[in-house]
Amino acid sequence: LGKKIHYYEEVTSTNSTAKDIAASEEEGTLVIAEVQKGGRGRLGREWVSPHGGIWMSVILKPGIPLRHASRLTLVAGLAVANVIRNMGLDARIKWPNDVRINGKKVCGILTEAKAEVDRVDYVVLGIGINVNMDLKDIPESFRAGSTTLKAELGSHIKRVSFLQDFLFELEQQYILFKTQPFSHILNDWLALSDTIGREVKVTTPSRIIEGKAVGITPDGALVIRKADDTKEEIIAGRCIYARS
Ligand code: BTN
Repeated sequence: LGKKIHYYEEVTSTNSTAKDIAASEEEGTLVIAEVQKGGRGRLGREWVSPHGGIWMSVILKPGIPLRHASRLTLVAGLAVANVIRNMGLDARIKWPNDVRINGKKVCGILTEAKAEVDRVDYVVLGIGINVNMDLKDIPESFRAGSTTLKAELGSHIKRVSFLQDFLFELEQQYILFKTQPFSHILNDWLALSDTIGREVKVTTPSRIIEGKAVGITPDGALVIRKADDTKEEIIAGRCIYARS
């Protein structure tokens, strides 16, 4: 991964740029920018992307059914968490895609896929990591729940070597994804997740589900046991921990 890199000083969104070129690019091509003016988060949210972060999108062509595309969000989250843990920080994953340190978000992942019938043509894995920015560069409304690697480590991070380590780790996980049963990755993901076992409240466009997070399905859906003891699987939504 990352044999070919499109580097920009500024883009609207690396995911949008990556989607524009994905059809004619080889698997593994990377789009990366210093600044995003219209960075996108999940569920239509904005993703603030000033100087000092790593804002990138990786084009993948795994040839998988569309329903499995969300598995790649877990693969990417695991890779980011592993690299941060190798730096000595206790990174954990909050379902489905937040990598957090001490309960504060340091990375978000936005996976977008294009499919023909049920096979994906490509998947764009958008990864945003708060690396060297000052917390004051993060708008006040997000600041309380966010952190940066620099703030957690107490020192400036070399972004290029972080990126190299990350691409190496992502490639390892991606090879496992393609060659091993998904349960391997799922188990590693579960070991780093702080969501399972918690009381959660998940908001989807149509409703709110409350209960205890008890597992993850092979497609990355969160399994919630509700007060009436029935279980529900949620493929996408905003997850809040009710008690921490
Ligand atoms: C989230 O947590 O809501 C997902 C955030 C994803 C942000 C990354 S930054 C690089 C890529 N380009 C975008 O516009 N979004 C993703």
